[in-house]
Amino acid sequence: MTGVSMATISRALSNPGKVRPATRMRIEAAIREFRQKSSSGRSGLIGMIVPDIANEFFPLMLSGVEGEGSESGCTVMLCSCNGQMKAEERALRKLLDIGVDGIIYITSGSAPPLLKETIASQSLPVIFLDRDPGIPGTALITTDNRNGMLQAARYLATLGHRRILYLGGSEGTSTEMLRWQGFMEAMADASIHGDAIGELHAGFSASAAYEAVKDLIAVGGFGYTAIAAANDVMALGALKAIREAKKRVPEDVSIIGYDDIPSAAFSDLTTVRQPFMEMGRSAILQLMAAISDCSMPQKRTVLPSSIVFRGTCAIARD
Ligand code: RIB
Repeated sequence: MTGVSMATISRALSNPGKVRPATRMRIEAAIREFRQKSSSGRSGLIGMIVPDIANEFFPLMLSGVEGEGSESGCTVMLCSCNGQMKAEERALRKLLDIGVDGIIYITSGSAPPLLKETIASQSLPVIFLDRDPGIPGTALITTDNRNGMLQAARYLATLGHRRILYLGGSEGTSTEMLRWQGFMEAMADASIHGDAIGELHAGFSASAAYEAVKDLIAVGGFGYTAIAAANDVMALGALKAIREAKKRVPEDVSIIGYDDIPSAAFSDLTTVRQPFMEMGRSAILQLMAAISDCSMPQKRTVLPSSIVFRGTCAIARD
């Protein structure tokens, strides 16, 4: 824990003046932590692994976690992994080495080997949030992603849109797969098929969505009257590209997003609201219960989403 020898630790305790202040402070901190863990068996630390802290959605869930966690004296250690599985595995290793009491985990896609080992060993409570890691028997708190996008795409079809572009997120995540399924179910219900359905994937990124839609317009391939985006930041990226091409929103192109992050309201974006504060609160409450009682059953909770009607969708023109 300290990186120094037992002889140095012993000297720091018996003759502190003989040890460099920085080393001594490190040793004292490690001893405090060790005593705390050994007495209560807990560090009071909770780890939280998220794909991309730059996406407003994840800090919003963190605030739900921290709000409830601080009430119980927990400190949350946040690790952002830029959507990379290797970075995710490094973060998990570090949290295990530090000795957190439990982890709230939002996976970037496929589960790293260390995560599967940690779950199999049952050595540490882990609550999965938002995205299903695809590991059987794990606790998960998420929302009705398939139904949320089904309602969003159905809303566009109800407005008379017959040529709709789907702007998808990170392929391989459960949220993206379920939203795509919901979208295609709505298209089938409205008898919209073939090249009337467009599909672009932009990894839940605003800049990637902007570039993809801009490029599609540039090659004359944007023959759609509506866009259903799998998250708000991509919807806002698409909005920028549409407006730069002198198309009006919603008169020429309707756009609906997903999440309802604060930027959505400022851009008057119609979107699907995810109850991110409730998601975060539920995750930390379930984790603290699991820390107290490791025999707790691994619960899976699906919270409802709802459409927030604002100004970026309108009836399709002829
Ligand atoms: O914006 C990031 C997206 O990925 C959100 O919709 C959230 O559900 C996560 O899965």
